Amino acid sequence: MKKSVIEAMKARRSIRSYSKRPMHHAAEGQLKDYLRHIEHPFDARIRVELIKTGEYPGNHRLGTYGVIKNAQAFFAVCCDRSSFAEEALGYAFEKVVLKSTQLGLGTCWIGGTFNKGAFADAVQLKADEMLPIVSPVGQASAKPSMVSKTMSRVTKQRSRKPFETIFFSDNWNIPLTQKSAGDFGIPLEMVRLAPSSRNCQPWQVLIAPEGAHFYRMAPRSLNRIDLGIALCHFDLACQELGIDGGLKIMPDAIAHTPENGFYTMSWIRKEA
Ligand SMILES: Cc1cc2nc3c(=O)[nH]c(=O)nc-3n(C[C@H](O)[C@H](O)[C@H](O)COP(=O)(O)O)c2cc1C
Repeated sequence: MKKSVIEAMKARRSIRSYSKRPMHHAAEGQLKDYLRHIEHPFDARIRVELIKTGEYPGNHRLGTYGVIKNAQAFFAVCCDRSSFAEEALGYAFEKVVLKSTQLGLGTCWIGGTFNKGAFADAVQLKADEMLPIVSPVGQASAKPSMVSKTMSRVTKQRSRKPFETIFFSDNWNIPLTQKSAGDFGIPLEMVRLAPSSRNCQPWQVLIAPEGAHFYRMAPRSLNRIDLGIALCHFDLACQELGIDGGLKIMPDAIAHTPENGFYTMSWIRKEA
């Protein structure tokens, strides 16, 4: 039976070792259909291509410097250069990751360790596009490789910051617990479980009567992708739970930006 999106968020892990079996035709067809139009709420252009390594003439160059083992296929994720392109990429590609999880396939966001030139060739990257992310996709191997175990240990892959250190109510002096977060308890827990570069979890969220304001607590452009992933988890969880609202830029929220932080965007409740 198909997992709900919230179940997929709970089940997803970064997978770095794959079985050599090719992807099932039905799953490949569903993924290709899904990639044709990935809905997201940003004014940015995102393109995700599925590359089967066996069909690409320069396949030996589609490398990840040993981080990923036996991938039979990769997603290459491109975006334009508009002002919210990285956040949009984070949101849109996390939807693809969750769809893959629902189809029983493993993935792993890769933002640093890949041969950019080879992947850019494979997708015929255009002059107005960037290619910040690739991900393997396929059946997880029954036995994780040594590199996979090391990466998992180095990034403390399974650990997450405590709820009350990243989510607050009204101001930054009032920590929230999942219980005191009311109907936002599950959506915030889904943010907490989201993947992030080096597992840095660079988000803080301020809950107010009108909704939730998201702040980025790290400066790199990969961290903007991380915030897009967090917004995706929050928005999709609210949709699945029937909590009405959507993403918006709220200029008033900028005044509440914590020290060393950057305001990203807000999720605003729909007025009844
Ligand atoms: C934007 C982004 C970039 C990432 N880049 C890499 C990478 O270059 N190499 C890698 O092995 N993992 C990479 N990861 C995976 C993270 O290390 C992983 O998501 C984190 O440790 C949490 O583990 P989990 O995904 O199993 O929950 C990246 C994740 C994100 C979101």
